[in-house]
Amino acid sequence: MLPKVSLGGFHMNSQFDHDQHEFETDWDTDAIVARRNRYYAASQRAFVPYRTPLIFQRGQDNYLWDEKGNRYLDCLSQNLTISVGYNNPVVTREAARQAQTLQHCTTMFFHPVPAHFAEELTRTFPAGEDWTVHLMNSGAEAIDMAILLARAHTGNIDLVSLTNAYHGATFGAQSVTGISGFRHKVPLLGGVHFTPVPDQYRGIHGAGVDSYLNDLDGTIHYATSGRVAGMLIEPVQGYGGIVPIPEDYIRGAAERVRAAGGLLIIDEVQAGMARTGDDFWSFQKSGVVPDIVVAAKGIGNGYPLAALIVKREIAESMAEKFYFHTYGANPVSCAAGRAVLHVIHAHELQARAQQVGTALLDVLRELQTRHEVIGDVRGRGMMMAVELVKNRDSREPDPETMARLFEKTREFGLVASKSGAYRNVLRICPPLCTQMQDVELFEEAINKAFDSL
Ligand SMILES: Cc1ncc(COP(=O)(O)O)c(C=O)c1O
Repeated sequence: MLPKVSLGGFHMNSQFDHDQHEFETDWDTDAIVARRNRYYAASQRAFVPYRTPLIFQRGQDNYLWDEKGNRYLDCLSQNLTISVGYNNPVVTREAARQAQTLQHCTTMFFHPVPAHFAEELTRTFPAGEDWTVHLMNSGAEAIDMAILLARAHTGNIDLVSLTNAYHGATFGAQSVTGISGFRHKVPLLGGVHFTPVPDQYRGIHGAGVDSYLNDLDGTIHYATSGRVAGMLIEPVQGYGGIVPIPEDYIRGAAERVRAAGGLLIIDEVQAGMARTGDDFWSFQKSGVVPDIVVAAKGIGNGYPLAALIVKREIAESMAEKFYFHTYGANPVSCAAGRAVLHVIHAHELQARAQQVGTALLDVLRELQTRHEVIGDVRGRGMMMAVELVKNRDSREPDPETMARLFEKTREFGLVASKSGAYRNVLRICPPLCTQMQDVELFEEAINKAFDSL
């Protein structure tokens, strides 16, 4: 029986209790825009998807409200971060409870909450392996560590990544990102080699996996020393435009990479945590058990939380060396993470992702029968894409129509994303708590958006 921590028992008077300073937040639209433009650095200012800024004031479950009180059906989940919904009462309660007792405990000291979270997270992983967890704050930070660990463990340098992949913005993560729009004009990490993505719609060999696996053989044989540290795969590429990687490819890639001495690194930052509906982790459909898994975004439902889930014998390669993050294993984020896991299981949100995702995909497929501009509709669970083309035969991307459609989706109350290497893909990834009754609203809004083009 675990001792219960009661908030009341811990509350002590603070020397600051008398300070009731009221913080003013200016919610005037123009003031919000002006203040951000004035004080944000260019690097953070640049990412503005809509022609005019979209300001959010409040969120509940899968709905958002702007500063003028307009309601939106969220189909983006803050870039797939909101898994169990805005202001989820269980997550909010657990995070607040932890913040009110101890908001931080650096990993050189012990605290039970992060270890509970690590234990509960490993329970979602395939049995038969001795999984360990390294907790940190962001996906890119976790990708960096995966690169380091793969190199440290194997003693090899070369890494293989897929074209059209997105793994994050830090030096390491950017180096394995295969979209020029996310790569800066600086020397990135050496020893990274890209192999063509087996995109079944737009890939260089079209559908099928054999030619892509031949390419991988070639990459390993010609571009590396023949021995690799590992290969990174997002089982469903996210920013690349919701590109599912065929299971046969993942199996074939794992075999080849392991034969060359490397590890299979699976990036579950977007596709993990029950989002694909079929399994808890998107790699599971392939039957392959990865060596290193990177998780972030949805595991914290908006609280900064990321994890590297690693087989023990691999993680042990770093036992002798100090690797510290100030905010790694933050107890507030981990309390939120525990609550997220609980909510997904207790409220069967994986099954819901499957059911609602299928219904939304049906709406999109129906739309495709009426709109010639839709070249492809695809998806897995709550990760869906509508790809716009100028011509269905040539499949030439149509970013111009996409840009207009995107503004229309907002006008009719949807928040989505335009993505893909050609900016011609509408990415639809709602929170897992979206309900069947929301499908009708979605259908109405997306139909109006397309009809108004
Ligand atoms: C698949 C994938 N991996 C890694 C990252 C990097 O995560 P973060 O932005 O938390 O650093 C992202 C972010 O969008 C992502 O989509």
